Parts: sequence; structure tokens; C-alpha cells
Amino acid sequence: MPTNLAADIDYGDGFQPSDAGQNERVIQKKQDDDDEEDTGTYVHLKKQLGLISGVGLIVGTMIGSGIFISPISVLKRTGSVGLSLVVWTGCGVLAMLGSLCYCELGTMIPLSGCEYAYLMEAFGRSKRHTFLSPIPAYLYSWTAVFIMKPSSLAIICLAFGEYAMSPLFGDCGAPKILVKLTTVGAVLLLTAINCMSVKSATRLQNVFMFAKLLALAIIIVGGIVNLCRGMTESLTDAFAGTATSPSSVALAFYSGLWAYDGWNNLNFVTEELRSPSKNLPRSIMIGIPLVTIVYVLTNISYFTVMSKSAMLASDAVAVSWSNSMLGVMAWIIPLSVACSTFGAANGSMFGAGRLCLVSAREGHLPSIISYISIKYFTPAPALIFQTIVAIIMVTISDIEALIDFFSFTAWVFYGATFTALIVMRWTRPDMERPIKIPLVIAVVVTLISIYLVIAPIVDDPQLGYLYAALIVFAGILFYVPFVYFKIHLHIFDKITVFMQVYLEVAPGEHTD
Ligand code: ARG
Repeated sequence: MPTNLAADIDYGDGFQPSDAGQNERVIQKKQDDDDEEDTGTYVHLKKQLGLISGVGLIVGTMIGSGIFISPISVLKRTGSVGLSLVVWTGCGVLAMLGSLCYCELGTMIPLSGCEYAYLMEAFGRSKRHTFLSPIPAYLYSWTAVFIMKPSSLAIICLAFGEYAMSPLFGDCGAPKILVKLTTVGAVLLLTAINCMSVKSATRLQNVFMFAKLLALAIIIVGGIVNLCRGMTESLTDAFAGTATSPSSVALAFYSGLWAYDGWNNLNFVTEELRSPSKNLPRSIMIGIPLVTIVYVLTNISYFTVMSKSAMLASDAVAVSWSNSMLGVMAWIIPLSVACSTFGAANGSMFGAGRLCLVSAREGHLPSIISYISIKYFTPAPALIFQTIVAIIMVTISDIEALIDFFSFTAWVFYGATFTALIVMRWTRPDMERPIKIPLVIAVVVTLISIYLVIAPIVDDPQLGYLYAALIVFAGILFYVPFVYFKIHLHIFDKITVFMQVYLEVAPGEHTD
């Protein structure tokens, strides 16, 4: 077995300028295609995504576990049915406003990598380049790889575990240990699929997309029928018991915003989108209002069959809904939810690999994380690394704590990215902006991000936020020696060679 597998691979021409603009780069990658002869030829990851795929990427990532698990915590934290519906609508409006900012950023900087690319452009490549300039982008990739991506994988798979087990245990709920074991099994299965074939992973994504749409369509139609039958008790006197503390409302938003997370997903793959200045905003304008309407209607449907106290007592809200609505066919909903969450976890894992590659090409992550399996052409080390961190999170925490942990760090970086938009209006006034949103929108969402991050800490300081902040800033301890001073440790060479030999991986992409 060769120890330097990298030497055995022909990387083609690496990044090449595309015909569509000087900022855009075409990523070359060997095709994951078993039917094609292995002649050493390379195919371009071309601009293949149009409007429909754009909408699919947004809607398919947003709809995952949240709409089936968050309604209970939103209700618990808002205290009333009325405020909970307001929070669900508010989250949709916030996702829309945030996406408008990302429309400006994504069309002005048409590079993949989303927040990473924008923070890098705004601060990392500023004229007065200092030691601090690349830190926001660096900390983002560090946090995404160590917290955000693994925790989102853990949450979605925990929801899978809960729903996959629920038909077997009925209303009393499955034992926690069994849920966790199923969750770990799902994470491992997804890792194996994603490490072994890009094609199977994308097929799986498409198949499970229908499962989630089916589940939501059944719930919404059931809700409309109930409303027509006059089942509106929970909706009368809807604001009784409303919570007033700012931190409860912020935490209710955390739970709701988890369900809307993924609104920025298309910005991770801008380089592969045809006419990004048209298709990015159009996909966002179609995708986010669609998800908002679906989510609000689904919640109304839950409330037509469950009172406030019944919902708070439920373990899995969609299962309780189907038990009271579908009789012998009740199994169909938990099964579709399990498929929906499995598909969303697959999508999350898939996207995480791409982000690792983008930030590793800037030298911001250990290069081994960006290596690609030479056998299957998948980002195996990044996937395995995410899996290990996600399994640790699954074993030590529960869904609600993980969602708070995720949302806190995610909104720190959404806020930083909105600020990048504002800063670039001054530092890059001449950059071409195919879409220019009113600046007030960016200011409003920046202020909301600050509120979402600060309010829960001030009102009810929890150790979890401290850990999250410590992990974010621990990145700097690695930045100074390894990224800024480029110190090279021989142990990394050993780990790299070890991984090259046993995982059969080699550097996957390089820039010219
Ligand atoms: N909204 C999704 C859900 O409800 C979670 C999305 C996680 N974020 C991501 N970028 N994959 O399960």
C-alpha cells in the first residue's frame, strides 16, 4: 500500500476561472460514478443547479426534525397557544429578513461556503490586513466543524431515534437508552452511506424529501378538516398564560428557529448555481414563505386535536396527533417523520463536508479534514470527524439542550455576517451588488441577533452558553500557532500518513 496516496492521484487543473465571472471558480472533482470508466478524467462540478433545485435545497434542509419536535418547547416557553403561533410566524419573518441580507451577500460574493466566504471577504481580505482580519471567518469554520454541524446532526438523529421507536412503545414513550442507541445507529449508518457514495447520499435525500412532504400534507389537510368541523377550543382565549420574560421569548425563538434553520443553505453552494443573481433571490422568495405557511398551518392543525396541556404532556407531538386522527393508520406519521429526519440528517452531513473543504482550502482547518477518499471520492475524514463529535453530543445531552447550544452559536455567526454586510457598504462601496437591500433590514436583523444571543444569558445564565463561548474562543489558541505562524507539528504528519494508509484518502482539492 503506498504511503503517499496523494502522489497517485491526478488532480486535473484544480480551480479554473469559469466563464461566468471572475469571482466564480469551478471545482473539479472526480465523479462518483461507478458506470464511468476510471480513466483518470475529471468532471467539473458545473453550474447545474437551477430554480427548482435551489428551492429544493432550501425547503429540503429547512423541513427536518423541528416542525415535529419544537412545537412542544415553543409552547412551554411562550406559555400560550397564541404567542406560540406568533413566534412560529415571527421565526418565518426573521428567516426571510435574514435571507434578504444573504441575497445581497450571495450575489455580491458568488462563492460557496456561505458565512465563511462573506466573513472572509469582509474582514479577512480587508486592505488593512492584520493578524486579526481572518479571525471571524476562521472562528466560524472552527465553530461550524466542532459545534454547529455535529450538534445539528445529533439533534436531527435524536429526533429520528425518538420517532422511529415511538410506534413500538405507544404513549408511554421509548426508554431513553433505546432512543440513544437507535440515534447512534442512525448516525453510523449515515456516515457509512456518505463515506461510500455521493450518489447514494443524494438519492436518499430525494426519496426522503417526499416522505416529509407527505407527512406535513396529511397533518395540514387533517387540520383543515378539523377546523371546518369547528374543533377550535385551543384557539379560543389563545393568549391566556402568555410568558412575559424576555429570555423565555428568546428561548422560544431558539426552538422555533431550529425548525427554520437551513434558510441559508443555498448560499453554501452558490458556485454551482446557474445565474445566481436571479436564481438565489427567486429560490429564497419561494422557499421561505412556503415553509412559513406550512409550519404555521401544521401548528394550527396540532392545536385542533390537542389542548395546551395535552401538547405539553406529549412526548412526540406528531405521534399524538396521528393517534387521535388516523386510527389504525396512525403508524404512517411516525414512519414519515423518521424518514424526514433521516433525510435531513443526511443533508446536514452532506453540506458539512463541503464547508470543511472550502475552509480547508484557505488553510483554516487541518488539511487532513479536507482529504477525499480515493476509493469512493467522498470527504471521508470530515464525515468521520463530525460523526465522532456528534456521537459524544448524543450520549451526553438531550434534544432541547442541544438546540439551545446550536442556536446560540449559530446566531452569534448570523449576527456577525449581517454586520459584515453593513461594514462592506462602507469598506467596499464600489463592489457590484446585483441586489441591494435597504440597509435598515440588515440593522434590524443584527439587533435581533444580539437580542437572541444576549437575552438568555442575562436572564438565566447557563453553563452551556459558557461552554459554547469557550469552544468558540478556544479556536484562537489554535489560530495563532497553526494558522498565523504556520507552525508545523510532526505529529500531524504522522496522523495524516496514518489516515492516508488506513482510510485511503488524499488531498482532494487545491487552488491555483
Ligand atoms: N431545520 C432543520 C430541522 O428542523 C434543521 C437544519 C439544520 N441546519 C442545517 N444547516 N442543516 O431539522
